[in-house]
Amino acid sequence: MSMTIPPAISRRCFLTGAASVAAAASLPSGAHSAQTAEFSLAAKPGRAPLVGKTYPPTDVWCYGDRVPGPEVRVRQGQPVRVVVRNDLSEDTTVHWHGIRLPNAMDGVPGLTQPPIKPGEQFTYEFTPPDAGTFWYHPHADSLQQLGRGMAGAVIVEEPEPVPVDRDILWVLSDWRLTSGAQIASGFGNAMEAGMSGRVGNTVTLDGAISDEVSVRAGERIRLRLVNSALARIMALRFEGHRPVVVAVDGQPCEPHETPAGRVLLGPAMRVDVVLDMQGDPGRRYRVIDDFYDGLSYWLTQLAYDDRPPVRPHPLDATLSLPRNPLPEPDLADAERHELRLQGGMMGGGAMMGMGGMMGMGHGASWAINGTSMTGDGHAGMPPLLTLQRGRSIVLTMRNETAWWHPMHLHGFSFRVLSRNGAPVPHRQWADTVLVPPKETVETAFVADNPGDWMLHCHVTDHQVSGMMTVLRVA
Ligand code: C2O
Ligand code: CU
Repeated sequence: MSMTIPPAISRRCFLTGAASVAAAASLPSGAHSAQTAEFSLAAKPGRAPLVGKTYPPTDVWCYGDRVPGPEVRVRQGQPVRVVVRNDLSEDTTVHWHGIRLPNAMDGVPGLTQPPIKPGEQFTYEFTPPDAGTFWYHPHADSLQQLGRGMAGAVIVEEPEPVPVDRDILWVLSDWRLTSGAQIASGFGNAMEAGMSGRVGNTVTLDGAISDEVSVRAGERIRLRLVNSALARIMALRFEGHRPVVVAVDGQPCEPHETPAGRVLLGPAMRVDVVLDMQGDPGRRYRVIDDFYDGLSYWLTQLAYDDRPPVRPHPLDATLSLPRNPLPEPDLADAERHELRLQGGMMGGGAMMGMGGMMGMGHGASWAINGTSMTGDGHAGMPPLLTLQRGRSIVLTMRNETAWWHPMHLHGFSFRVLSRNGAPVPHRQWADTVLVPPKETVETAFVADNPGDWMLHCHVTDHQVSGMMTVLRVA
């Protein structure tokens, strides 16, 4: 069967100001010439209709005038310039989560750049080497800035469009709202910080609770899932459908189905799935998140219109995405390090291991190898490890706590080698790996990107109360 597949048709442009085009920068030979994509983002207070018309709009902090922020969509290897203006009344920065970029563009206040003061601006410039689904968020006062709505997606397109009918993005956000649909205060509650973090009570899809998403029988959808929550872990099931995971944290993997069709998404994680819409015209199928026992809810419904299927059988085209230019770690010759994740409440409510952790600072609930770095980043954070540039590194993360931790390393994608000693199949790379309680995850990467890089838990309460450290590549 031969057919012409339209390129992704859901390319929504929400950019503030048309993307203007600057003179082409010269690229290394081999890359086709690409013009710089320019964006401007203003960080500021706004209002968003998160829960529909029967409630007042919610006061949020956002990029541009919307939640989530404007989609930054560029092509692989295309230079990007983003001018970020701070119209908040406090410092901010922007971190380009998952993008392998120069350290000075990484957005960590004090560590990689001075914070952007109110009324000031900062220009981020980088060229994304990898195609995939990424996102951006503040790295200052993260609990409030992310928790009040500041987040957006970065989509880096493959040079050739992949064979799907539609390319859809769902930015999933979690909010703790009052009965008047306003954001509840109480960010940084110490009790919560020592447990699961600030899990909210309202999950939105692209900035609003969602009743349904319309689909057509027979179409193939690439669905890009982004979990931009402060703390909520999600496990999505698509009733009557079998999602095939094709990329994790932007990086292509061998296409595979997951146990029971559940797609696990910790805070900051992205998963791209391919869905063949093999349901019945006119029917609805729920998308259910059942991560937390007894707290399952439906996120939205796949609502089939009445038209007959666009094709009788699922599309006969490859599900594999082209690989990104990631350096392959040399496991035989790797330097090995272990990070022990420590602290938090035990089942009974007592703090764990406090006595043994001399480095735990005031207000710290968590530690990595006995030391707690707190906050969002600041000058003079001493590196826990100094890695030699170009060296292959095997980094083992041992979760000694009773809680889940999505562990994020800035500036790199790493291979996820094993969990509790069992090899992880499907060639999975990640920049944020979810480590369940008492489990151990082994990862590997090549330390090819020089600079001081943050490594922290992406449950924001955990990060700011101690589960953070710095790796130096020198
Ligand atoms: Cu998305 Cu320091 O993180
Ligand atoms: Cu954590």
